[in-house]
Amino acid sequence: MPTKPLPSPHLLTYKGVSALRASHPRVRQLKRQQQGHAAHGNKVWRSSFVLMDYLSTWGVPSGAQVLDIGCGWGLTGIYLAKCHGAIVTGLDIDASVEPFLRLQAELNNCNIAFQAREFESLKRKELAQYHTLMGTDICFWDEMTAPLFNLIKRAQSAGTQQILIADPGRQPFWDLADLCVEKLGADVISRTIDKPWKSQKYILKVSAN
Ligand SMILES: C[S@@+](CC[C@H](N)C(=O)[O-])C[C@H]1O[C@@H](n2cnc3c(N)ncnc32)[C@H](O)[C@@H]1O
Repeated sequence: MPTKPLPSPHLLTYKGVSALRASHPRVRQLKRQQQGHAAHGNKVWRSSFVLMDYLSTWGVPSGAQVLDIGCGWGLTGIYLAKCHGAIVTGLDIDASVEPFLRLQAELNNCNIAFQAREFESLKRKELAQYHTLMGTDICFWDEMTAPLFNLIKRAQSAGTQQILIADPGRQPFWDLADLCVEKLGADVISRTIDKPWKSQKYILKVSAN
């Protein structure tokens, strides 16, 4: 009788996707090759698991174009591509996250486009092609609130159907949420998961006008 493959201690499985743990030999190898690896894209952050949980209830239509800003290793986009048939682009200011995103996408048999650039540079015309704009754990410094608000405003006016920003609840996120609730009719959703860890996060949701 064929035996089931043993779960890898270097991978975590959630909602049908495999997430890389820092202990994975290829992660360790990539980290060794990248001296001076920058800006926080150095693991899968917990807000992305909470956003995946939300999206498992409120998914996106198959074939929807999705942009994941500050994607890091890109797990939420991989989940949408693999489990909802979305066409996903990950964007990150830090080009060194790309091999981690590619490795994680390869493990999940899916293809994610990647752009190494700042989310500030996204123009209204480009944003118009996306059904969903999302980001997890990307509003962690005070200086990020204003550019993220301007980006969200451009995306809403371009016709993006939904903008979803998940966060542990840091002050710059609440400042962003206050602006979006007041000026763009946004909602903030609190969501808790029990697995892989018990974790409560917040999701800012801005819908099309
Ligand atoms: C805390 S990590 C979160 C990564 C990923 N979203 C996750 O949840 O696992 C923040 C990411 O935002 C990226 N980032 C920071 N500022 C950015 C900017 N202005 N434009 C694009 N990406 C940015 C960082 O390089 C990093 O990968």
